[in-house]
Amino acid sequence: MKHSISFLSVVFAGALMTGCQAPENAANTAAGNASNTSAQSSAPNDKKTFLIGMSQANKGEPWRQAMNDQITEAAKKHPQLKVVFADAAQNNTKQVADVENFLQQGIDLLIISPNEAAPLTDVVSKAYDKGVPVILLDRRINGNKYTMWIGANNTQIGERAGKYVANWCKTNRPNGCGVLELRGLEGSTPAKERGDGFRAGLKSNPKAKIIASQNADWLREKAVSVSQAMFQANPNADVVYGHNDPMAEAAIISAQNAGKKAGDLLFVGIDALPTPDGGIRSVLEKRLDATYIYPTGGQQAIDWAVKILEKKAKAPKEVVLQTEEVTPANAAQILKKYSS
Ligand code: FRU
Repeated sequence: MKHSISFLSVVFAGALMTGCQAPENAANTAAGNASNTSAQSSAPNDKKTFLIGMSQANKGEPWRQAMNDQITEAAKKHPQLKVVFADAAQNNTKQVADVENFLQQGIDLLIISPNEAAPLTDVVSKAYDKGVPVILLDRRINGNKYTMWIGANNTQIGERAGKYVANWCKTNRPNGCGVLELRGLEGSTPAKERGDGFRAGLKSNPKAKIIASQNADWLREKAVSVSQAMFQANPNADVVYGHNDPMAEAAIISAQNAGKKAGDLLFVGIDALPTPDGGIRSVLEKRLDATYIYPTGGQQAIDWAVKILEKKAKAPKEVVLQTEEVTPANAAQILKKYSS
């Protein structure tokens, strides 16, 4: 099925804006933020302007740039908001310093997509304890010292991917099916959830087994060398499951370098950006076989920031964004939907 390994590097910002938005299901799963008094009193806020700090884990990845673009675009509709961005470049220490710096600047609200959970927990908790409302986007911290989390259900996405692979294996490799797993950064919560969910989904076919699992930290460049070594050690692998599309795409190149015939193996990723080099087009162009919409939540974060800051709304502890499975059967339709 796979014919081409070319990547377009152009990113259409317009598609990014619309493509990552998703309907949301609010689920108030926790008691809320009792100590976070600034967002909780009932009178509407009469302050005229608000400073929001957006702490990004690593702007070098296309999906994260899409998140920032979506926040910028959504904030434009609210002239009373000023959003300042910081890029931690996948460095936990830098991200802690970024948040400290925001607190010094006197931000009214923090939006953060934490690089890894444990190292960011203290500084996020500190912000929350100071009364700064905190919106966690996509990745979590430990404990519950934050106002709300917005993101998609990574365990469920992983499970759907596992079932997809299990079914493909049933049809195409009835005598046994070896899966290579390229994992995201270990201390980031989606990596664990996507890994655990996948294992649960794969169980539906006992002949399908993970034969090797390696970390490539969410990074395409790293996944090139990691997957190359995996194919060398496991020349009979049948499937690659990448915790995100860039890593799954990297493995396609490694498979071709290892002499695999285009179309022989199955490649599954996650993110499904509607951009020229994103996952939906990759499925359309028959490189990836399946991917899953992973909305950035940028738009929803701004919507909730406005409600919290201006209306003093009590936010739900969790807002779960919807995902969709993208396959050759629906990729054209999904691209249209997320590009309009
Ligand atoms: C970008 C990214 C996405 C992935 C998400 C998980 O940093 O790796 O590709 O879906 O983070 O947090």
